[in-house]
Amino acid sequence: MDLITSKEILRKALQAARAEGASVGLVPTMGALHGGHVSLVEAARRECDCVAVSIFVNPAQFGDLSDLAAYPRDLDTDLEICRRAGADVIFAPVAAEMYPRGQLETAVVPGALAGVLEGPSRPGHFAGVATVVTKLLSIAGSCRAYFGEKDFQQLAIVRRLVADLDLANEVVGCPTVREGDGLAMSTRNGRLDPAERAAATVLWRALCAGRALVAAGSSSGAEVSALMGAVLGEEPIVQPDYVAVADPASLRVVTDISAEVRLLVAATVGPVRLIDNVGARPLGLERPPGSAVGADVAPEAVAPTRGRT
Ligand code: PAJ
Repeated sequence: MDLITSKEILRKALQAARAEGASVGLVPTMGALHGGHVSLVEAARRECDCVAVSIFVNPAQFGDLSDLAAYPRDLDTDLEICRRAGADVIFAPVAAEMYPRGQLETAVVPGALAGVLEGPSRPGHFAGVATVVTKLLSIAGSCRAYFGEKDFQQLAIVRRLVADLDLANEVVGCPTVREGDGLAMSTRNGRLDPAERAAATVLWRALCAGRALVAAGSSSGAEVSALMGAVLGEEPIVQPDYVAVADPASLRVVTDISAEVRLLVAATVGPVRLIDNVGARPLGLERPPGSAVGADVAPEAVAPTRGRT
């Protein structure tokens, strides 16, 4: 496994791999890797000849400098996790390598997809994500790029930016990896105390209740949202932010459910804001063949990651 810190060396290494006929997979991350990240690397390993993982805590997507400073960083552990998951190349640049001229003159600013759900709570966040992802895809060149459904809005924004800007990439969405009790794996879970950690499972319980109501035949987005809100309200230490029934591509609110929808929730638990989502299909609507939407990965299907959450 090679550790690369220079954009130009990464560009040349992946160009050379393609010149030899290898297909390239890229897994963009901010490090502090857990089982969710590992599942993306493993998916890339199954589907590509050469697997690159980027590890870069992108300052442009943090609203708050103290959040950026507090973001966990442990490159040695991350390298070991990547090596075990089968990565070939790690790209771990410093900020000056990614932003040599400091503040960018040019940015990629997503439109309506970034204005809903997480958008209002995190101004500028998705422009920071879209810009760094565009830079990473441009450096990597033609490849498959792997993203988690855990950050469903981010995935939708990345799919649209690749289509809108005609980038030479195929975006692959991968199912959310969960702890045994359903909590979606996240770097932030490690900041929950035991009582908060127990209460945090209410996000998954709310999504399951919503999904069951859709599967049982409810076609009312408002009814499904109300149920998810009521379940979230069962935990007094959880402050709900939003519950939504949305179209999976446009993320627009769905009032009359007649096709697959995405159920999304966000809530603050103690010091941590958590997000989660799941696909839901109305009664009688089968999942399209080969679709992974809504097929979350059981925790036991994921390789151990040294107890990180
Ligand atoms: P990060 O939070 O490190 O996440 C990297 C990738 O891992 C994202 O695609 C995210 O959706 C996926 N992921 C996180 N938790 C997951 C889980 N429980 N199951 C499956 N996949 C999961 O997302 C980012 O970094 C950044 O915004 C980035 C895209 C790297 C741009 O800076």
